Amino acid sequence: MIILLKNINRYLNKEVTLKGWVFNLRSSGSIYFLQFRDGTGEIQAVVSKKEVDKESWSLTKKLTLESSLEITGKVYQEKRSPSGYEMQVKNLKVFQIAQEYPIGKKTHGIDFLMDHRHLWLRSARQQAILKIRNEIIWLIREFLRKNDFVLTDTPILTPTPCEQVALFETDYFGEKAHLAQSGQLYLEALIYSLGRVYDFGPTFRAEKSKTRRHLTEFWMIDAEAAFVEHQENMKIQEELVYYLVSQVLKNRKKELEFLKRDLTLLKKIKSPFPKITYDQAIELLKNKGLKIRWGDDFGGDEETILSKSFNKPVFIEKYPANLKAFYMKPDPENPKYVLNDDLLAPEGYGEIIGGSQRIDDLKTLEEKIQQFKLPKKEYEWYLDLRRYGSVPHSGFGLGLERTVAWLCGLNHIRETIPFPRLINRLRP
Ligand code: 4AD
Ligand code: MG
Repeated sequence: MIILLKNINRYLNKEVTLKGWVFNLRSSGSIYFLQFRDGTGEIQAVVSKKEVDKESWSLTKKLTLESSLEITGKVYQEKRSPSGYEMQVKNLKVFQIAQEYPIGKKTHGIDFLMDHRHLWLRSARQQAILKIRNEIIWLIREFLRKNDFVLTDTPILTPTPCEQVALFETDYFGEKAHLAQSGQLYLEALIYSLGRVYDFGPTFRAEKSKTRRHLTEFWMIDAEAAFVEHQENMKIQEELVYYLVSQVLKNRKKELEFLKRDLTLLKKIKSPFPKITYDQAIELLKNKGLKIRWGDDFGGDEETILSKSFNKPVFIEKYPANLKAFYMKPDPENPKYVLNDDLLAPEGYGEIIGGSQRIDDLKTLEEKIQQFKLPKKEYEWYLDLRRYGSVPHSGFGLGLERTVAWLCGLNHIRETIPFPRLINRLRP
């Protein structure tokens, strides 16, 4: 019977067939020890000259790293094997004997590994990260579904920018279009249909930022909700992030441990998360010796310091209006500020969420569009939302890869997505 390794414990002391790859091997003459994986698990397969037929033995002697095989034999528990299980192989068939595998045991530089990303993805480390990424995706969907958010997809080809950051332009049958930076504006239309909505897809930014936090193509969830105001907006973000941390700890402990993630730091994360205003953040940075003035935006260094100052995610709210996007609602108590929040992950990871309450008044939004020198005509549909049944509403966008980097404890975002797009990398 052909089985998957994840189900191996159901077949102890039975004969089964596995299909997969050799990721390590050593031999002591008449015995070969193969470390074998099938994508769902690992096992040590033992091939002994005296236990297999001639054909299987001669194939075994030709095996190389990453050769693809079908192996049949009895499985049993073996504490000394890294996976805890072993197979005594009776028969072995080869799909392909791999050529000399370029990724060996010696340590490779990051450029080499990135050039061989298509192969590097097979490593146990990359498997662990990808499993955690998958877990986080499902948890986000689960959380939003439980909280009555409807998944609605927003376009990737758009005529109007959402954020004031660099765009990827493309030709759209003779007119200029660009790749979406965020689906938010479209979600704002959808709340009038469904109340609470979210999208989850790739977003694009031509930012020339060569940092450990920036990709040019990354996955974002944008969530948007009618009748939700600034405080409740932050509450939803806090609950979502707490849910992600606690469930990843529960469901992906093995992978986190493999990555040597410091779990004690993640376990400390409980609600409520601290909240400070932009003004307080400026004071905090000044006290830490930074040369920063009111009105400056936070760059990577400032974010790192702020994020290291708390052992939980921290909300920075109410930024000066001119530092933030055109659609954010001015604070009624002081319209110099907007009702926004950035949620910074701890340990220096920095911003993982940007959110705000949106302008719901037609006149205010028209003024902002003018102030930001945006082409009003293109935003007429967006202004319509303030003409027909406008309501207070808020939303936020969570960057998937930054969240994965933080929860996995990675020092660079490039490993959080299978094929990262960075300013200096379009391949493979
Ligand atoms: O803060 P941002 O720019 O917010 C928006 O785009 C809003 N329209 C979202 C909304 O309210 N619906 O981006 C949201 C998040 C950031 O907090 C960050 O986690 C991630 O997207 N992000 C990036 N991740 C990787 N690489 C980049 N270049 C990123 N830029 C933003
Ligand atoms: Mg932001």
